[in-house]
Amino acid sequence: MRASTHPFTPQPHAVGFTGDGRALSLAPMTVAAAASLAPEIAGIGPWAHYNFSADDMQASLLITGDGAIRYQLTCDGTPAGVVIIRSPWLAGPYLQILAVLPSLQGTGTGTCILKWFEGMALDAHMRNVWLCVSGFNVDAQRFYQRYGYTLVGHLPDLMRQGDDELLMRKSIAGLIVDAPER
Ligand SMILES: CC(C)(COP(=O)(O)OP(=O)(O)OC[C@H]1O[C@@H](n2cnc3c(N)ncnc32)[C@H](O)[C@@H]1OP(=O)(O)O)[C@@H](O)C(=O)NCCC(=O)NCCS
Repeated sequence: MRASTHPFTPQPHAVGFTGDGRALSLAPMTVAAAASLAPEIAGIGPWAHYNFSADDMQASLLITGDGAIRYQLTCDGTPAGVVIIRSPWLAGPYLQILAVLPSLQGTGTGTCILKWFEGMALDAHMRNVWLCVSGFNVDAQRFYQRYGYTLVGHLPDLMRQGDDELLMRKSIAGLIVDAPER
């Protein structure tokens, strides 16, 4: 099988189902989706901690040409979160933002997206998957650790004085099948 260099395409991707059977998909971000998602995302997790405004969030969801792909997450067709991926990054893709709206948190949605992200990287014969998580976001750290991501670096004061971001990596090289030895 020939590996794709750019697996994270600006097309819809089916990523799985919530625990109670609702369909989860990723689709390229639209102006309408950014407008509806931005205030909610700005109000949760690290973005609330860092005082992102809804306007700043909306603008950041609509940036083009910076090498990242921005997806809206939909649940049964309704916008329900944001996924931003930078790929290629460092011998593998970097998950820049994973945000699931509070109404859908704890339903297995984040798990589906992480598995899809890793699976896409693996199919493309990439050796690593990467992400950052805030030092204060211990729930998300536990979530990523559960799926095999390990701490590879402390990034002090990255977003704001006194706040650490944690760089996490999962090596998937050992899982690649039918790839030439590199
Ligand atoms: C972290 C997050 C992506 C996980 O997605 P999810 O759909 O809630 O996760 P799943 O249902 O597949 O798995 C549940 C796990 O997610 C984590 N989680 C659940 N709610 C969370 C929240 N509000 N914030 C952070 N992590 C959370 C927990 O580790 C939980 O495991 P637990 O049951 O042992 O507590 C999602 O909760 C979220 O978007 N949180 C707010 C934004 C955020 O912190 N994003 C990560 C930035 S690096």
